[in-house]
Amino acid sequence: MRVHHLRQAKERGEPLTMLTAYDAVTARIFDEAGIDMLLIGDSMGNTMHGHETTIPVTVDDMLPAVRAVSRAAQRAFVVADLPFGSYEASPQQCLATAVRMLKEGGAHAVKFEGGAHLAEHVRLLTRSGIPVVGHLGFTPQAENLLGGKRVQGRGHDAAEHLVSDAMALADAGAVAVVLEMVPAPVADRVTEVLPIPTIGIGAGPGCDGQVLVWIDMAGMASWSPRFAKRFGEVGAELYRAARDYGRAVRERSFPGPEHTFEK
Ligand code: KIV
Repeated sequence: MRVHHLRQAKERGEPLTMLTAYDAVTARIFDEAGIDMLLIGDSMGNTMHGHETTIPVTVDDMLPAVRAVSRAAQRAFVVADLPFGSYEASPQQCLATAVRMLKEGGAHAVKFEGGAHLAEHVRLLTRSGIPVVGHLGFTPQAENLLGGKRVQGRGHDAAEHLVSDAMALADAGAVAVVLEMVPAPVADRVTEVLPIPTIGIGAGPGCDGQVLVWIDMAGMASWSPRFAKRFGEVGAELYRAARDYGRAVRERSFPGPEHTFEK
């Protein structure tokens, strides 16, 4: 999967699939399963590191995960999130962080949160050869400003604002835009007017693609948002495996002769 396949998929009406991945083990599985794009999301802060929000995540937290996913992905397009505080100050700061994600992490593209006010950031990265994925709607790094995890783009003015933000990112050279927690009709409108794919999460079925946090998708989380369908019960299966292993060791039925060298 290369960058030009994103637009091609939109033109052909072929839905794009994206999942988060934070390590080589899961990245390999998702890549083999044919997922088009792997996102090393800063959701790693919540899902892997036990933070309440994505705000504490740093570039140093992200880079080992980006490297691991990039090494494992054979086919998927690898997108690295830029964490809070690593890109907002200027296009130059954004470029410096993005370069690290590609040079040291091996990612193909970066994603960051924000609209028209970051168009210059997108333009500079694009001119520098770095594909950018935008992120609009509910932007978790701005959770404090948005007053919590709330649907964005409700009402005429907010919807128009979202559409013009998306257009500004596309005009600046973004290769795709994530739409998070946006009413479906608004996501449909953005999808219709943009020449680049929209990737929805809680934005309805009309987007050009969908993304989920894998922990939600696989049933690893004790709580998941309403928009996240559980496609498996991996958490329950992992619990069962760990419990059975513990029991087997305690009752000395493991290791058996087949696991033992020279009895
Ligand atoms: O960090 C993340 O996982 C994301 C997705 C929710 C799109 O940005």
